[in-house]
Amino acid sequence: MATAEPLQSAAEQAPALDLTERTDLVPIFIMGKKYDVPSTLTIQKALEYAGYQLIRGCGCRGGICGACATVYRMPGSPKIHVGLACQTLVQPNMYLTMVPFFPANRAVYNIEEMKPDTHALLKVYPELTKCMGCNTCTKSCPMELDVMEYISAALRGDLERTAELSMSCVMCGICASRCPAELGQYHIAILCRRLTARHLRPKAAHVAEMVERVESGRYEEPLRQLMTADLDTLRKLYVEREMEPHTADEMWQPQETRFL
Ligand code: SF4
Ligand code: SF4
Ligand code: FES
Repeated sequence: MATAEPLQSAAEQAPALDLTERTDLVPIFIMGKKYDVPSTLTIQKALEYAGYQLIRGCGCRGGICGACATVYRMPGSPKIHVGLACQTLVQPNMYLTMVPFFPANRAVYNIEEMKPDTHALLKVYPELTKCMGCNTCTKSCPMELDVMEYISAALRGDLERTAELSMSCVMCGICASRCPAELGQYHIAILCRRLTARHLRPKAAHVAEMVERVESGRYEEPLRQLMTADLDTLRKLYVEREMEPHTADEMWQPQETRFL
């Protein structure tokens, strides 16, 4: 578990909570220890309410980064539930622990030298053939992706289909933690997306243009200024930054165009 020992009391950790509602506390068990936490909290907030300081296993807090994979059981049930701690609400008497990192085979490869086909995939991920079609990965994915289907597409060489089906993967690793064939589905999927982008899809002219601009050193000086600025200057720049309006269309540009 990526959480340290409790550092502060619940009251110290949760100053924003309305303490008049503290009657609505529910018991949960974090790594086997019981805590009473407000029923409206996500697992992530409940961990902090209980006094844990999240050093790992906490990133975006918005269901995007995949850092907060969590497993839990409910009393009297053999079923293992999974979810993202920042997106899953606590339930009375849940037993939980976080799995912010799950070791999975991650191959090293040179995308330029690879062909976009099954043969190339199997060379770096031979375990792909061990998939037995149990569908556990799909049932455990918090993003509700059809993981088994994207693995099956990879196996039959349809890399574009795998890329498409896995586009919303947050790399949380829950599928790998549950797979009886020991696949690292998300690493296989990201390779398929890379091969698709590098070898199968047409090149995007605007991306090439931007790469050229970056390589020409256009952003070196503004970056240097930011990196050497003091905290007050950074705060001021952040507060005064021009934000894209919610209603902006795709042609929107900021008034300051020096950095485009
Ligand atoms: S959990 Fe593993 S073995 Fe089962 S379908 Fe998914 S990839 Fe295949
Ligand atoms: S495919 Fe696997 S790693 Fe990706 S979001 Fe689903 S469970 Fe997480
Ligand atoms: S903290 Fe990023 S998905 Fe939960």
